[in-house]
Amino acid sequence: MIALEVKKMKKNFGGVKAVDGLSLKFEKGQITSLIGPNGAGKSTMVNLMTAMYPPDAGKMIVHGVTLEKWKSYNMPTYGVTRTFQDVRLFEQMSVLDNVLVVLTERGVFRSLFETHGELHLKQAEEILKRVDLWKKRDEKAEDLSYGQRKLLEIGRAVAMDADIYFFDEPFAGLFKEMVKTVVSILHELKNNGKTILLIEHNMDLIRELSDHVIVVDAGKFFAEGEASDVLARKDVVEAYLGE
Ligand SMILES: Nc1ncnc2c1ncn2[C@@H]1O[C@H](COP(=O)(O)OP(=O)(O)OP(=O)(O)O)[C@@H](O)[C@H]1O
Ligand SMILES: [Mg+2]
Repeated sequence: MIALEVKKMKKNFGGVKAVDGLSLKFEKGQITSLIGPNGAGKSTMVNLMTAMYPPDAGKMIVHGVTLEKWKSYNMPTYGVTRTFQDVRLFEQMSVLDNVLVVLTERGVFRSLFETHGELHLKQAEEILKRVDLWKKRDEKAEDLSYGQRKLLEIGRAVAMDADIYFFDEPFAGLFKEMVKTVVSILHELKNNGKTILLIEHNMDLIRELSDHVIVVDAGKFFAEGEASDVLARKDVVEAYLGE
């Protein structure tokens, strides 16, 4: 079953065809990886799918519903959530509040000034322990290390309890132990039937995690298939290395 389909997406940035008629399909309950060289349009594709900016052309079909226009604030309604390549958090809020905000779905101010139910606190504790940040719960997000910030963002995504997750380079800059944590979280999400788009440059991780790999180059589709097949292709390796 297809959880999400994107058709003929296009985005031009002042002459740069960042995404050039790209169509993608994501099988429900699977990890689909999007790979390709720097500047291939991977992050732009996620930005288009989450309406960070409007596409020049293209449509999206979520759980069978065709969307001609979609807004970023509607993405939770479609069961879609994401992380950012450059990490986005509520910097001035505590680690715990960063997760509670998501769990309570009340927006920043209300969640700061209201007392939380036992349930939300329990859930936040579980998630923060999962990403090894429970001990850091009272620290401000901005005071965390780079890797901890990435883990907190992933924790926030988990807290969304979405159907479809877009992870844009979740492993970049992480220490070994942190990588293991994120790998196990991705496995867990998949085991819970979640649909995952993974953008990643580390081919060992791509091999380990992907059910399906899609290669893009210069905003266009290049190849797809099982990781072992796709990554063994000479033309894919050459495109990746820019040869
Ligand atoms: N907001 C923007 N304004 C102008 N140009 C942009 C913008 N976002 C992306 N681009 C350009 O679009 C192209 C695709 O960029 P994108 O960030 O999507 O690549 P990517 O595949 O995610 O690369 P990387 O692996 O380095 O993260 C690049 O040429 C980039 O410079
Ligand atoms: Mg990118």
